[in-house]
Amino acid sequence: MKDAFLRACRGEKADYAPVWIMRQAGRYLPEYRKIREKVDFLTLCKTPELAAEVTMQPVNILKVDAAILFSDILIPIEAMGIKLEFSESKGPILYNPICDEISLLRLKSLNPEEDVPFVTDTIKMLQRELKVPLIGFSGAPFTLATYMIEGGSTKNFIKSKTMMYQNPALFCRLMEKLTEAVISYLLAQIDAGVDAVQVFDSWVGSLSPLDFDIFALPYVQKIIAAVKNRVPVIYFAFNGSAMLSRVKLSGADIVGLDWRIEAEDAVKVLGHDCSIQGNLDPCILFGSRELIKERAAKILKSGQKARGHIFNLGHGILPETPVDNAKAVVEAVHEISLKEG
Ligand code: CP3
Repeated sequence: MKDAFLRACRGEKADYAPVWIMRQAGRYLPEYRKIREKVDFLTLCKTPELAAEVTMQPVNILKVDAAILFSDILIPIEAMGIKLEFSESKGPILYNPICDEISLLRLKSLNPEEDVPFVTDTIKMLQRELKVPLIGFSGAPFTLATYMIEGGSTKNFIKSKTMMYQNPALFCRLMEKLTEAVISYLLAQIDAGVDAVQVFDSWVGSLSPLDFDIFALPYVQKIIAAVKNRVPVIYFAFNGSAMLSRVKLSGADIVGLDWRIEAEDAVKVLGHDCSIQGNLDPCILFGSRELIKERAAKILKSGQKARGHIFNLGHGILPETPVDNAKAVVEAVHEISLKEG
């Protein structure tokens, strides 16, 4: 059971294609909503017994081949001194964003053992219970920087890009601080026992390829180089399909793909030094069972061109998704790939 996911990470042959789903623990599951009726989101992330329980829900309900630690990319940012709240309607709100030299100097460096012990405690608890590999994760520096500068979610990234273009030295110092924090955060998760890590760069697709080279890639390269001799690293640059030749330079063992590119076209750019992960449009799960099977089969066929393929959605599962359709896609991936493998 532990085998298929890690084999695909390394590009070794497996009996069937492994599958997990980004944001697989979340509001589309009634079992998750039941726990959330009693505690707020941040308390859930910070209570190891509950975080571990929620991490295991999709493994038991959907039969996915890997678990992902239940937490959020903004948790280490809070520990660095940014006051954080999750509002039901507006999403994350960061109350003291980084806007100048003084706010940057005020930012604390991250000491995971002291600042986020609940993360490593959750991992240790899960290691005793889980029968599938556990994926740890972090946000990538660029994505984390946008939250820190904008103070929340944004459409056009105006504040972040204003800092990038008006005061690149300040922006890069923030990126350096975040790079150090991400490295120590991922190493702490690895020491606690995660089997692989994913670096989420959800908003890096807002950059031109030229700016990706200057403001994002060098930091991601540094992080991946620091951890990849320990466990396989997945780099997910959402909306990055037009700059995959650059994404490849991250050094990731597995490149996450969104649904805007055919997997086999991605392989033409990425070559065979890395595996791929993805890439069903999350909205296909609002279609019929037949459509779900048909599209899963197409992606699996296309994915066979890669060194290794981990099936996933092209971004997080949406809260409105019918649970039965999430179960159906996992079942379809196993059934189809077993037959063809
Ligand atoms: O994937 C998993 O199951 C593990 C848990 C996980 C969460 N967030 C739980 C969560 C992971 C890996 C994340 C990553 C994350 N968080 C990203 C990167 C992935 C992506 O989607 O691009 C980002 C950008 C965030 C920031 C974030 N967290 C936002 C913008 C929001 C609000 C929007 C929303 O989806 O509600 C969150 C909250 C959040 N993170 C929830 C969950 C289950 C919903 C909280 C709730 O229960 O109300």
